[in-house]
Amino acid sequence: MSTGTDDRDFWDAEAERFDDEPDHGLRDPRVRDAWAIRLRSWLPDTPSDVLDLGCGTGSLALLAAESGHRVTAVDSSTKMAARAREKLTGTGARVLVGDAARPPVGADRFDVVLVRHVLWMLPDPAAVLRHWAALLRPGGRLVLVEGRWGAISPVGITAAALADLAAPLGGRLLVEQLGHDAALWGREVDDERYAAVLTPPAPARHREIVDVHLLLLRDDEILLARRSGTGYADGLLHAPSGHLEDGEDVRSGMIREAREEIGIELSPDELSVALVMQHRAPNGSARIGWFFTARHGSGGEPVNREPDKCSELGWYRLDALPDDMVAYCRAGIDAYRDGESFLLHLHRDGDPIAYDPAGPGRAVPLSRSAVPGSGT
Ligand SMILES: C[S@@+](CC[C@H](N)C(=O)[O-])C[C@H]1O[C@@H](n2cnc3c(N)ncnc32)[C@H](O)[C@@H]1O
Repeated sequence: MSTGTDDRDFWDAEAERFDDEPDHGLRDPRVRDAWAIRLRSWLPDTPSDVLDLGCGTGSLALLAAESGHRVTAVDSSTKMAARAREKLTGTGARVLVGDAARPPVGADRFDVVLVRHVLWMLPDPAAVLRHWAALLRPGGRLVLVEGRWGAISPVGITAAALADLAAPLGGRLLVEQLGHDAALWGREVDDERYAAVLTPPAPARHREIVDVHLLLLRDDEILLARRSGTGYADGLLHAPSGHLEDGEDVRSGMIREAREEIGIELSPDELSVALVMQHRAPNGSARIGWFFTARHGSGGEPVNREPDKCSELGWYRLDALPDDMVAYCRAGIDAYRDGESFLLHLHRDGDPIAYDPAGPGRAVPLSRSAVPGSGT
């Protein structure tokens, strides 16, 4: 079924007598209680944001609001929406006219998307489910009450078909059969009716490796190490560096790496933070890089402690750095010299790892905000 004017005309015409059906109007207290009990079991225990799509005259929306939830209800029929608005007066619920497939809720996100007897009518229900799942906050759920009605030319969607549609979303799907519970319908029914509660998996958190880099300074020179035999940036000069081990803080990690790579034993107060940068290698994933400075002499004379990974150590003028360097390391040192504290350096796939004076400039300094009243 489309959502064209014809359908809206149909539902506008239905609005007046829609509540005459026991499970629509919930006028019989036994039917109403049966739905109230089921709905409470499908919704969260604590007051939550519930989006009721294709809300009709708002009977389920009202039960949700009476349970303490904050309700937004949407229907494409202005007459249905008007009835829902009337029914929900005083509950704080808002009723919007719009398409259930793309509800007009902007950037709002919900704990529950509740839909009764609507999904089966919408074109491309798989895409609709994807969109509804995207309207959920992490940990949110879809509560779908559907069925397949009629014997000769049945309409609707079976629980098995709904499970297939929902499978690509992943997460947990609980199906509760409702056909046997005559109290819900105000009479005995023999077709398939059910509720499906789908909790999509929470989106994965973004994670990044943290690495540390030592800018060891001797007057106006810096110590660089030439990488070798590592499979990454071999032949290029780089600051002594490495990534954090599980549970390590950045300063301890820097002290460990300085010991392991160049044999110096730094104390915490000999290290200062030069710069923090988010960097990404071509075709790689992003990392957070902390750049520390220390003065030559702190912790002893540097020696190449990892000859299998480093072919030589050398001192280079800070104001005339060599070109044969790892590009992001070069960008970090340049930014430090320019007085920057925070930098993005995100290579695009296909960029060279090596610094190229004529290559793509990927360094984006991030400004520090001034402290109000400090004059800085
Ligand atoms: C069978 S009634 C269900 C009403 C309500 N969910 C209930 O269970 O009482 C279907 C409702 O969906 C609405 N509807 C149909 N297609 C829609 C669409 N594309 N967008 C929004 N509402 C729609 C109709 O106007 C009607 O109110």
